[in-house]
Amino acid sequence: MFALVSQHIPPRPFLKWAGGKAQLIQQYQSHFPQRYKTYYEPFLGGGAIFFHLSPTQAMLTDINPELVNVYRCVKESVEAVIARLEVHHRSHNPDYYYEMRSTPGKTQVEKAARFIYLNKTCFNGLYRENSKGEFNVPIGRYKSPRICNPDLLYAVSQTLKHTEIQVASFDAVLNYATDPQDFVYFDPPYHPISLTSSFTGYSRYSFHAQDQIRLRDTFAELAQRGVQVMLSNSDCEFVRDLYQDFNIYTISASRAINSNAQKRGKISEVLVTSY
Ligand SMILES: C[S@@+](CC[C@H](N)C(=O)[O-])C[C@H]1O[C@@H](n2cnc3c(N)ncnc32)[C@H](O)[C@@H]1O
Repeated sequence: MFALVSQHIPPRPFLKWAGGKAQLIQQYQSHFPQRYKTYYEPFLGGGAIFFHLSPTQAMLTDINPELVNVYRCVKESVEAVIARLEVHHRSHNPDYYYEMRSTPGKTQVEKAARFIYLNKTCFNGLYRENSKGEFNVPIGRYKSPRICNPDLLYAVSQTLKHTEIQVASFDAVLNYATDPQDFVYFDPPYHPISLTSSFTGYSRYSFHAQDQIRLRDTFAELAQRGVQVMLSNSDCEFVRDLYQDFNIYTISASRAINSNAQKRGKISEVLVTSY
């Protein structure tokens, strides 16, 4: 059993998530708006920018219901999630991993703890499903993965207390963000920079050129309302053309550059703002 009093640590992402923004925050810092009231993050993923800003009022959405359930359970039932993660931690070995992978939890908390357990122990923290919607990533090669970090989960739970968390497609933000005091940050699946570099991280939720166009239209509609909007994407002609009416900044990132996720290289990305 864990003590209920946790050490105070700042919140940060508690999941490994493809496209995480943690290393880019320094470069983003000067581009965040000076003031805003409600923060919206419609492609939540690992939520690195949300945790960095820790806004007092926020709405977080993602199209992946399993991911949204994790955030909701950490917000509302953090002790139960930690207790369940401890069981996974004690039991972890390859046989147990594959048993858990094929056994969806029954309760919301079981599902959330299973998601975190698999995320911390699977290959590269990938999220991939087969055609039946079953998580199918093999076990990763970690000596002693940190499956449960109670202090971090308590800190995250506290930060999430001020948020609303929902399953939604990104364009649902049009129903909520209407005020110039609102700030919307979009971190979509990136547009592939070459035909061979199509990104396989998000199976069921693949994002095509027409989705990028719909996203640009959503961005433009919000900007027209005076909402402060910011977006990350890959640095390519298609994206630069889509956002030519807005401010485009070049960001330097270290990313997996080919099919071998261990090989990293410098690559440029763009950050777009409406303000
Ligand atoms: C690049 S990740 C976000 C990374 C995250 N902001 C971070 O810093 O770790 C993209 C997320 O968009 C979600 N997604 C994909 N298609 C979507 C859609 N049409 N509407 C909303 N979310 C979507 C995926 O489930 C995934 O969690």
